[in-house]
Amino acid sequence: MTATVPHNYEHERALWDAFADSAWKDPSNGEPVFRWTQYKDHPADPGPDFLGAPASALEIGSGTGRAAAYLAERGVKVTGVDLSPVAVDKCGEAYGHLGIEFVCAEILAHLAGGESSFDAVYSIFGAAWFTDPARLFPLVAGSLNPGGIFAFSQPPAIPGAYGPQGMYKGGFAGPAMFTYRYSYPLTQWKTFMEAAGFSAVEAREIEAPTPGHIGTLLVRGVKS
Ligand SMILES: C[S@@+](CC[C@H](N)C(=O)[O-])C[C@H]1O[C@@H](n2cnc3c(N)ncnc32)[C@H](O)[C@@H]1O
Repeated sequence: MTATVPHNYEHERALWDAFADSAWKDPSNGEPVFRWTQYKDHPADPGPDFLGAPASALEIGSGTGRAAAYLAERGVKVTGVDLSPVAVDKCGEAYGHLGIEFVCAEILAHLAGGESSFDAVYSIFGAAWFTDPARLFPLVAGSLNPGGIFAFSQPPAIPGAYGPQGMYKGGFAGPAMFTYRYSYPLTQWKTFMEAAGFSAVEAREIEAPTPGHIGTLLVRGVKS
């Protein structure tokens, strides 16, 4: 069970618009790259092969679109869904020529529409981190073809701090922009995945390249 918090996606959209504006000021964020961890050239990052060999893929919380662009350049038919219209517009300008469809939508509402199915769904520090897994995972399962893969990465939970975690944007003064991210121990992620109908579930932590630095939570399951 997860605690219920009062998400206001209009409010959260403003936060993510500000995030997208700031992210696109760094030109390196516009380079197609696919990595699950927050560390460049991490030797333990499984890379895009962790998704198998999908013909179609959906990125949930596609942000800068760089992972979607990486897959599209290799022939995958990719859709990116993101709450932020700023992110979606910038991705369209940068990567529209690759044939990626970028959709501006809140992911729970979008998947509830149930219009398409994919060989893979993934999130890299994306919507799987910011959405209640008890609601999201069954919708993801419903959007996958049989045998399809759902995988996501995000920071691991801080020990003892589980469930929805309120997060203010950028310091503790100024407009109160906030969102919620979801943190659980590895065993609980596995339980959410299996309850949503995924098999062969693995949930693990990749250690940071530097001992004592923040690692990466990595979860994957196969739609039964
Ligand atoms: C930390 S960013 C990371 C995105 C991406 N992996 C990247 O490299 O840019 C998280 C993204 O998730 C999106 N997001 C958060 N909650 C969402 C939701 N409920 N529905 C759709 N997108 C969401 C945000 O708009 C933001 O672009």
